[in-house]
Amino acid sequence: MKFVDVAGVNDILPGKTRHVETKGIEIVLANVAGKIYAVSERCGHMNAPLSKGTLYENIITCPLHHATFDVRTGKMITGMVEHPLPDLDKAPKETQDEYRAIGMLAKGIRIHDLQSFPVKIQGDRVLVTIQ
Ligand code: FES
Repeated sequence: MKFVDVAGVNDILPGKTRHVETKGIEIVLANVAGKIYAVSERCGHMNAPLSKGTLYENIITCPLHHATFDVRTGKMITGMVEHPLPDLDKAPKETQDEYRAIGMLAKGIRIHDLQSFPVKIQGDRVLVTIQ
């Protein structure tokens, strides 16, 4: 298993994330109480960048539709959250219909687990294998 140097340990503070890219693969590194994990950067729903989301303990929340994933395993915890538009009922009927149709399509999109990458700490460097 070949590991690639992607960041410094001190680049990812506890409770924080960092986007890195190696060999064309986007990864989000997450520091959970001093232990660093690596999962795919792109959300398993519609590819939003998870490093722009929030990390709470071991759970990263997508910034776009708020699906949540466990950074220790990449497994999805909860799916997307629908946010109704305020005052949608006051919009023209065509706009309401279009918004509802988009909502129905989005609900039908399957959310995939994230790929999880093995991490190794070597000195003050974070190494990841992309297999
Ligand atoms: S893109 Fe992440 S939940 Fe929709």
